[in-house]
Amino acid sequence: MKINITETVLRDANQSLIATRMPFEVFEPILSTLDSAGYYSLECWGGATFDACLRYLNEDPWERLRKIDAACPKTKLQMLLRGQNLLGYKHYPDDVVRMFVRKSVENGIDIIRIFDALNDLRNIETAVDETLKCGAIASGTICYTKSPIHSLDSFVTLAKQIESLGVQSITVKDMAGILSPKEGYDLVKALKENVSVPIAVHTHATAGLGFMTLLKCVEAGADIIDTAISSFSGGTSQPATETMIYVLRQYGYEIDVNTRKCQKINDFFKQYRNAEIEKGELNPLVLATQADVLHYQIPGGMLSNLVAQLKAQNELDRLEEVLEETPNVRKDLGYPPLVTPLSQMVGVQAAANVLAGERYKNVSTEIKNYVRGEYGKAPGEINPDVMKKILGDEQPYTGRFADTLAPGFEAAKKEIGEKAKSDEDVLSYIAFPAQAEAFFDKRDEKEKYTFKYEIEKVD
Ligand code: CO
Repeated sequence: MKINITETVLRDANQSLIATRMPFEVFEPILSTLDSAGYYSLECWGGATFDACLRYLNEDPWERLRKIDAACPKTKLQMLLRGQNLLGYKHYPDDVVRMFVRKSVENGIDIIRIFDALNDLRNIETAVDETLKCGAIASGTICYTKSPIHSLDSFVTLAKQIESLGVQSITVKDMAGILSPKEGYDLVKALKENVSVPIAVHTHATAGLGFMTLLKCVEAGADIIDTAISSFSGGTSQPATETMIYVLRQYGYEIDVNTRKCQKINDFFKQYRNAEIEKGELNPLVLATQADVLHYQIPGGMLSNLVAQLKAQNELDRLEEVLEETPNVRKDLGYPPLVTPLSQMVGVQAAANVLAGERYKNVSTEIKNYVRGEYGKAPGEINPDVMKKILGDEQPYTGRFADTLAPGFEAAKKEIGEKAKSDEDVLSYIAFPAQAEAFFDKRDEKEKYTFKYEIEKVD
């Protein structure tokens, strides 16, 4: 049986280990090797790449994509898209979502992995529909989470609904790295028995589960796995590409990736990683295993945010109480998956409940909007008492929130005016207004990033 490999070094590994600070010039010399290595796809865009390009790298994200596409004619380019939220957390009107998808495909994207943080399919259907219309591959995504209302059955039901949108594959997205080998095996097996499209598995090595989980998911029938080249793997990143290939081949799985080329890719990124560790841009701690998250059942990022927040308020000794309050808040909110921004929102609320000595006395605007229904439908029921305390007599919105939004593309185009040189620029402006405008003002003054590397010739 054949297993396809998605290489994440350009996107998720880059995002998880060095906050997406890898400039295009750094990885440009290795693109042709990545392209000829035999990967199923290169995850290279979306997620935080867009924001980081504009905000920190003075790079046009669209130009980055076009350059990757030009250097990688053979391999499919893949992006991660947060459905109706595109690359951020607010909802955009449908015309903007459609334009964004269309331009992504026009500029080189072949596969769009589309998810909604609440698994509310109303928030992915427009992006899926437009992806299909553009002739690209839509991978509908399940955000994996654990709670009393999430079960194999509920995930199978969700997968069937996603399949009926016409997607060409379904991704199990374990953003927190909490999917265990057994849970992964059972889930993929159940999905394979109930849907016919290929199943991709995305996880993180944070808690030390990732390598085992991918192996068991493959045994259960997963068709595609996400891995990162070893020098950019492990810890909060993905399991290592070469290690997974080595293990899977021993079990007789066929994998098209050329290991000799992996070596070259790894040697290349190792030099960059070491340089970043030396500069202090890569904290070696993120490469370590954090089994704590298994005990607390919350993502690693959320735990470190909570610690930082309590430390800043001189209340670190109340961490244990806050950690005990966290599951209560999550329950009151109808068990949202603990993915950004919900993980932070739940954590902040739990801390507020503990520190104020009264539950939901202080509530953030984000939590209010969530309870109002502006993020979509909560997976479970929001505690009616909590809802009443937060909203008073106001009724929550139960429709699809994007339906309340007026078309946005033309208005934004007018607003940014001549600073935008293309429709792509307008989309950058819509996604990150301040960052994009600042970028437009200084895009010609780009300083070249210098990174010395040695590259061996391999054909
Ligand atoms: Co991820």
